[in-house]
Amino acid sequence: MFSRDGCIDLIIHCRVVLAPLTRQKSYGNVPQPHAILYYSQRTSKGGLLITEATGVSDTAQRYPDTPGIWTKEQVEAWKPIVNAVHAKGGIFFCQIWHVGRVSNSGFQPNGQAPISSNDKPLTPEIHSNGIGVAQFTPPRQLRTDEIPEIVNDFRLAPRNAMEAGFDGVEIHGAHGYQTDQFSKDQVNNRTDQYGGSLKNRCRFALDIVEAVVDEIGADKVGIRFSPFADYMESGDSNPKELGLYLANALNKYGIVYCHMSEPRMKTVGEKIETPDSLVPMRKAFNGTFIASGGYDREDGNKAVAEGRADLVAFGRWFLANPDLPKRFELNAPLNKYIRETFYVSDTVLCYTHYPFLDITALVSD
Ligand code: FNR
Repeated sequence: MFSRDGCIDLIIHCRVVLAPLTRQKSYGNVPQPHAILYYSQRTSKGGLLITEATGVSDTAQRYPDTPGIWTKEQVEAWKPIVNAVHAKGGIFFCQIWHVGRVSNSGFQPNGQAPISSNDKPLTPEIHSNGIGVAQFTPPRQLRTDEIPEIVNDFRLAPRNAMEAGFDGVEIHGAHGYQTDQFSKDQVNNRTDQYGGSLKNRCRFALDIVEAVVDEIGADKVGIRFSPFADYMESGDSNPKELGLYLANALNKYGIVYCHMSEPRMKTVGEKIETPDSLVPMRKAFNGTFIASGGYDREDGNKAVAEGRADLVAFGRWFLANPDLPKRFELNAPLNKYIRETFYVSDTVLCYTHYPFLDITALVSD
């Protein structure tokens, strides 16, 4: 589907990727029919869409109503959504996810503690809508002999994703969730072969890559990292070295793409000035490179023209503009996104109601 020295022709015609966006409308962790319209609205021929983060197991969850892909019911529920994207010529990857310590016992099987690389509790967090506070239960540190079970959950999820009809999976290795909890030195305090040195800390992510590649083939596997981000108290003392190590290490597996969040995005919606860039990682990685975080049309065009990315993923602008590639093509005005409604459970408001471009109005202007 993608070629190792670039992107497939179809992708080349649409470098605008739908970034993974949690929307919390999969009641009981089961994708719902309203997602058919949401994703198909955002599909254009040859465009890549990445699903919202999707749990690999019942210990992977934290946010209410986020989808999973570990049960038969979930797999069946994804099928019509995937079919709708394919019917419009889109390429659909499922982002597979384990939250690790970013959870609370209310979301865990039998009310148990969340599991993580470490036992460091997170500070309670004000919800992004400004209402209420998310409480995190102190995690239980995984024993070394338990780690292969989590890796195995990451192996089964892509098998299910194939059954659901997805074109591939994106391993969520970013933004402070389980994989980051292993790779970042400000979180990982282990003393076994999964902690300490850079090589040891990255072992968990690479074990997962190896398992997923073995299960479904490298041409169907992408991964997302955010070495520079410190979401969920997951900073690293040397993010450049970490990003570069991971980008180089991925080459061994021949996966189809590496997706990285920009160093300038510390938290969603907060753009900081930084001299850091993804260029060294982009140069190190042999496959398709996707950049994301704080891009607009101009930035995206520039990144591609200068060879800093093959594809650019857009989050908030795509959320609010179902026809974003068309709007970019025409340099048309964009709908504004409404941050307060990113995670509301309403299935229409600020989900499928964002309007498409009125081309006739543009012509008459
Ligand atoms: C996100 N982001 C995100 N990232 C990820 O890897 N998996 C996810 O499920 C989510 N969910 C999510 C929900 C919402 C509502 C937002 C706004 C963001 C991060 C997202 O993919 C992207 O990296 C950021 O939004 C920054 O890119 P933009 O919005 O500046 O293009």
